[in-house]
Amino acid sequence: MKPLKERLMTPGPTLVPERVLQAISSHPVYHRSAEFKEIFTNTIKLLKKLFRTDRDTIILTSSGTGAMEAAVSNLFSPGDSAVIVVGGKFGQRWEELCKTFGVNPIVIELEWGKSVNPEDIRKKIENNKNVKGILIQICETSTGAYNDIKAIGDITSEYNDILLIADGITAFGVYDIPVDEWNIDVAITGSQKALMTPPGLAIISMSEKAKTRLSKVEKRSYYFDLEKEIKNQLKGQTAYTPAVNLIIGLNEALKMIEEEGLKNVAERHEILAKCARAGIKALELELLPECPANGVTAVKLPEHIDGQKFVSWIKNKFGIVIAGGQEHLKGKIFRLSHMGYIDIFDLLTQLEAVEFALTRIEMYPAYGKSVKAAMEKYIELVHHKPITYRKGS
Ligand SMILES: Cc1ncc(COP(=O)(O)O)c(C=O)c1O
Repeated sequence: MKPLKERLMTPGPTLVPERVLQAISSHPVYHRSAEFKEIFTNTIKLLKKLFRTDRDTIILTSSGTGAMEAAVSNLFSPGDSAVIVVGGKFGQRWEELCKTFGVNPIVIELEWGKSVNPEDIRKKIENNKNVKGILIQICETSTGAYNDIKAIGDITSEYNDILLIADGITAFGVYDIPVDEWNIDVAITGSQKALMTPPGLAIISMSEKAKTRLSKVEKRSYYFDLEKEIKNQLKGQTAYTPAVNLIIGLNEALKMIEEEGLKNVAERHEILAKCARAGIKALELELLPECPANGVTAVKLPEHIDGQKFVSWIKNKFGIVIAGGQEHLKGKIFRLSHMGYIDIFDLLTQLEAVEFALTRIEMYPAYGKSVKAAMEKYIELVHHKPITYRKGS
């Protein structure tokens, strides 16, 4: 039997709500019109609420990597040093970007799945000259590990000339992160994860400390000129033609977050993450990360299973698209996504598919164990009001 439909359950891109799809599917509006300016300004306002910041926050028409590149090329001069936490594929990307722009990477290499000890960042700052920034992922999506960004911000705020640059591409909209309060100088995210919008937009917010640096560093990118973008976007404009339809979609998605309430959104993600972990435990599988993030759950597969075939089998059999591992973890892990437009039943679907696929390998299909454990966790965590469909209620 062929799958009837495809269910996208990867940690980016993620499912897009019908409301957002509808908003996107229209003719583009003129990006210099008053109509677009209003939507754009409102989108920035909602993004600032998401970041809980008063600082300048801008939208770039690029994938998330574009904002990472913009941060490195606009905030560092050749010969500067940056402390980089490399515990997965996206940490490696910081390192590659530094090398591209002549920034000296001082790497804290972690076993994939581990989170950084914030004190190790302090040591690197103290033991090296000319450190101008810390480059880190709040959630390293390739391993599902969460880094204690608040503790790291406490450390970097002690240094006047060191910026904390945080890739929160799978963290904003998953967690409630007060960017200003936690001393994150440069916060980055993308449209296609917890922001429930198709890929193509990156968001970057900058502290005064970061803006001072921006004004001093010689420009090394034409398209990603952050000073120019800030100047334009403060007036409700972009320097170049933006992805207008995506911005209209993002505006709708941010309204949905606003309606649900950021605290509730974060709580939903936390509950789903705990349910995912309970479901995995019931299958006697081990999580990869020590400190798992709330948007994605990375799970080690038993040695005798080829993870790439495993993930493909689930897709071919059920149309459920979950992610496998990257780089040396290819074939060794799978990743469940519970980020963005996702509820408990989307999670149960993924868990059941995994359980079924696992037991098929041994040729005795079993079912329900992980779903039961996840549901038990859900009931434990979610306070149920009296049933409203009871007669007379
Ligand atoms: C943590 C993190 N950083 C960076 C990226 C790269 O973003 P993009 O693929 O949008 O360029 C991703 C994408 O998965 C990510 O999860």
